[in-house]
Amino acid sequence: MHVLIGITAGIAAYKIPLLIRLLVKQGHEVRVIMTPDSSDFVSPLVVSTLSKNPVAIEFWDRKTGEWNHHVAYAEWADVLVVAPCTANTLAKMSQGLCDNFLLATFLSMRNRTMIAPAMDLEMYQHPTVRRNLSILEGDGVVIIPPEHGELASGMVGEGRLPQPEQLAERINEHLGCQGLLNGVKALVTAGPTYEAIDAVRFVGNRSSGKMGYAIAEALANQGAQVTLLSGPTQLTAKHPLIQTVKIETAKELFASVQTHWPSADLGVFAAAVADYRPSEPNPQKIKKNEDSVTLNLVKTEDSLAWAGSQKKMHQFLMGFALETSEGEAYAKGKLIKKHLDAIVLNVLGENGVGFNFETNKIRIFGKEGKAVDLPLDSKKELAKKIVAYIIENK
Ligand code: CTP
Repeated sequence: MHVLIGITAGIAAYKIPLLIRLLVKQGHEVRVIMTPDSSDFVSPLVVSTLSKNPVAIEFWDRKTGEWNHHVAYAEWADVLVVAPCTANTLAKMSQGLCDNFLLATFLSMRNRTMIAPAMDLEMYQHPTVRRNLSILEGDGVVIIPPEHGELASGMVGEGRLPQPEQLAERINEHLGCQGLLNGVKALVTAGPTYEAIDAVRFVGNRSSGKMGYAIAEALANQGAQVTLLSGPTQLTAKHPLIQTVKIETAKELFASVQTHWPSADLGVFAAAVADYRPSEPNPQKIKKNEDSVTLNLVKTEDSLAWAGSQKKMHQFLMGFALETSEGEAYAKGKLIKKHLDAIVLNVLGENGVGFNFETNKIRIFGKEGKAVDLPLDSKKELAKKIVAYIIENK
């Protein structure tokens, strides 16, 4: 992969030559952009020797007179990793300022950027820094959080740049270079569907899409090429191996599944699809003239059941079941009826479990009826374990 590293003027810059060496050893091609002040902390000669490429610092090279083209750098890179990222560069990035070559390249990167902020404890806690971080996170930049430990100032706290090995691991994870699903095509469904009642109202549910998005990311982290069919959610998938297709209704989901499932190797259907939709949505907004109205609902297309009915030998299909009673019996029933290889049962009725929570508690049933319990954990961690289950059982 092509890894573009941006070094800014923080003391932790001393760790970056080791990171470059590690990434080159792992087979990546590495190029480096340094902010002008960062050369006080690490020598461009060391950086260029280890990366085996010239280092870009200015918009043009004063010695050769050659122009450094920021768009060309951005086009070359699979990912830009700004490490260490100082409070100053963080602030400029969050506001779209562009007064050096690194910042101009960042603006050309279209969402393929990771930053590893590193600074003193008090600086990292400052409200402006927190605000800038959340702006960038909202814009789709992936944050590699600093570690807790002794800082250059002698103080102890959060702000330390992770070690080169950890940075390389996060970068590889983000690029899908962990590799156990390299070349595998995965189809994931996530989020709710909205079924129109009239021009402005809909029938929907409280699904946040978090579980499906976390699974898409965990699959991509293992190298899978993921198509994510997403209902309306607040989320954005940031991984370069995830292609998101937005859908709104069960009918649109079904059409997308029909397009993408035949060429997929693996399907994880986590969407909370409406089972019924209003039979005749009113094209106008319904007026409040009557004391009561009756909605006639008709069944929607079952995407998962269709995918199961079309399943080829090499395809692995996993569904989800959300039940309020007799969970195990219903989940096992759906596994058979929809021709699944596995089904994940959301264990409802407990605190911290289900829609809109960050955490979940689940049980996976395989074809032979064998159950695997995954205790209460963050949806991200559970997603990793679900993907590990798929890798083991597919
Ligand atoms: N599903 C789907 N399309 C639908 C309904 C459900 O793809 N129209 C998928 C969901 O994404 C989930 C699984 O089917 O993976 C089970 O969904 P669930 O709503 O729990 O079950 P249903 O089959 O709809 O049965 P019921 O609502 O009666 O429990």
